[in-house]
Amino acid sequence: MQEINASIPFDKRLWRQDVAGSRAHADMLASCGIISEEDNAAIQDGLDKVSAEFEANDVEENLALEDIHMVVETRLNELIGDAARRLHTARSRNDQVATDFRLWTRDAVGEMDAAIAELQTALVARAAEHSNSIMPGFTHLQVAQPVTLGHHLMAYYEMLKRDRSRFADCARRLNEMPLGSAALAGTGFNIDRDQTAAALGFDRPMTNSLDAVSDRDFAIEFLTCTAQLALHLSRLAEEVIIWASQPYGFVKLSDGWSTGSSIMPQKRNPDASELVRGHAGRILGCMNGLMVTMKGLPLAYSKDMQNDKPPVFEAYDLIGLCIAAMTGMVSSLTFDTSRMEEVAATGFSTATDLADWLVRDHNMPFRDAHHVTGAAVKICETRGGHDLTSLTADDLASIDQALAGCTLPDLSVQGSVSSRTSPGGTAPVRVKEAVAAAKKELGI
Ligand code: ARG
Repeated sequence: MQEINASIPFDKRLWRQDVAGSRAHADMLASCGIISEEDNAAIQDGLDKVSAEFEANDVEENLALEDIHMVVETRLNELIGDAARRLHTARSRNDQVATDFRLWTRDAVGEMDAAIAELQTALVARAAEHSNSIMPGFTHLQVAQPVTLGHHLMAYYEMLKRDRSRFADCARRLNEMPLGSAALAGTGFNIDRDQTAAALGFDRPMTNSLDAVSDRDFAIEFLTCTAQLALHLSRLAEEVIIWASQPYGFVKLSDGWSTGSSIMPQKRNPDASELVRGHAGRILGCMNGLMVTMKGLPLAYSKDMQNDKPPVFEAYDLIGLCIAAMTGMVSSLTFDTSRMEEVAATGFSTATDLADWLVRDHNMPFRDAHHVTGAAVKICETRGGHDLTSLTADDLASIDQALAGCTLPDLSVQGSVSSRTSPGGTAPVRVKEAVAAAKKELGI
């Protein structure tokens, strides 16, 4: 029974929040005249000692004491006696654990925001360096049109910006206090929930005691935000893996963020990226696990809900590693920009520029321009080319007489990217603006 029942092996991570909640609760009980000032003073002193002990030696995993709430209270009782046994007045472990876990998640969200901002900072720095560098832009993983590397990196900045806003939203909703709901029905003691809410930095006490002790939306929301972030990181990780492979040769991983092989001395493997990609799967599992745990639970508390913590802690630990690894990798990658530019010119990647020119300078309807360009690509292909550099005015005239004697447009990859100045486009001038705006948002 003890083994299946106990949560102390994992909920000991909540000890700081449990102590903070107990302090606020005892203060409130004293100011409402429910316990004496002397007992409160003894409780506060005792909690100082308990904290110092846990700080120094960690929390003992005593399965007989079941969970962190019992461990703190039992130790307090050993240290100060009687007064400790008054602490649980007008409180239950049900409102206590919900409060502790919200406090913990609130801190975690704050840490997430700071960590994501660091990765954004790394991306912006590299984007600033490479606002002019050219790489192939892909659709279907086929070379589509040339883009700037800075533009590509800034796409991830935007994803991360949305992730931060999702976490901020999660923080807003979770910052309400369950404490004072007691086991499920509230309490007959004349407590002051506004006082405890203010002391613990909550915006307000929760409105309905049944909801307060049985809601785990905040934990699920934390996991959905984390899962979405993990998805973004795994996409970037996947790109790094592809870019670092020899057929691409777009990037070289740093020594610090790659691994060797035990048999092939030449290897430089993208293990960190692969684990970021892999961890995303585990994080999705955490999210799914808690959702399935909560599905169909009747009101109010059931012990199933004790299983809320392992997936949240696991996802938090994994995502921390993932963000740190991506930040390290992005900062230390070496981009082979000439290789990227060389590939950017293949696959007739500036064909759209030719079609656009026919529309602009020859007033051709786009669909016709598309057809003429397709024919032009075929001519160059028969000559064995991979780009439009061999195209001549005579070639175009052979497709459409009206084009005889025309002056060909700039079909270089440089010309292509610099022309794409539409808002949100890949032109270096737009990337520089995006970088400047991002720096302002990041306060750097
Ligand atoms: N360890 C429990 C949990 O994490 C605390 C709440 C226990 N409540 C109860 N009624 N047994 O959910």
